[in-house]
Amino acid sequence: MNNQPKLHIFKDDTLWQEAVIRLILDVISDSLSEKEYCTISLSGGSTPRQIYERLAKEGSKRGINWETVQFYWGDERAVPHDHDDSNYKMVKEALLDHIDIPEENVFPIPTPDQPESAARVYGLDLQTTFTSEGNTFDLCLLGLGNDGHTASIFPHTDLVHEQKAWVKEVFLKNKDTYRISVTAPVINRSRNIAFLVKGANKADALEEVLNGDENPDEYPAQLIRRSPNVHWFLDREAAEKISG
Ligand code: 6PG
Repeated sequence: MNNQPKLHIFKDDTLWQEAVIRLILDVISDSLSEKEYCTISLSGGSTPRQIYERLAKEGSKRGINWETVQFYWGDERAVPHDHDDSNYKMVKEALLDHIDIPEENVFPIPTPDQPESAARVYGLDLQTTFTSEGNTFDLCLLGLGNDGHTASIFPHTDLVHEQKAWVKEVFLKNKDTYRISVTAPVINRSRNIAFLVKGANKADALEEVLNGDENPDEYPAQLIRRSPNVHWFLDREAAEKISG
């Protein structure tokens, strides 16, 4: 059985966007054939913003009934939801403010709380939504930092080795700030995972994550499982160094 992730490499940005949107539509459709809701964990950062904006413009006319979608966050910065660094704020501006999604379908990480309590509360929320053994999110969107982090699982932090907590806070010395992140074991229980990675500055990290020696302390995105329903949506610049 091929247990390799699926690489989707595009030189054209519109095709890159369309491929990501297509996966999201397919996951929603597949999920709703079995369940009442499709659960999607959103990534922060800048790359996914254009996808959220496309979903805002096209989602309904392409068949998405937002009442059947639940949004979670894979990680958050420990800032208020109206702070410019907030992943919630980015998604609200790009997507939530433009679609008819019930408030009860949107599950932001409660960052006004202290990082530790925000992580604990969000972890309990996820444990009431998902069973302890089965799948978690129907789709988990992730980014890749040029240092090999994903979500807020940064190199040489305790989060790399966190196997018990569902959500954990982490203090980033170089950024002098806390982040809250869903942990790798919970991400890996997602039915589908999609990395959205663009730009030449990601090429080295991508090569190490996909083809380098196993070293998750250095390249935490290596923690994310390799299987056919793990997709890497790449532009040619990000993919310039991956062989094969
Ligand atoms: C965040 C993200 C983070 C992001 C990567 C890539 O909160 O910033 O969760 O993991 O996905 O840093 O960010 P870009 O897409 O902006 O390059």
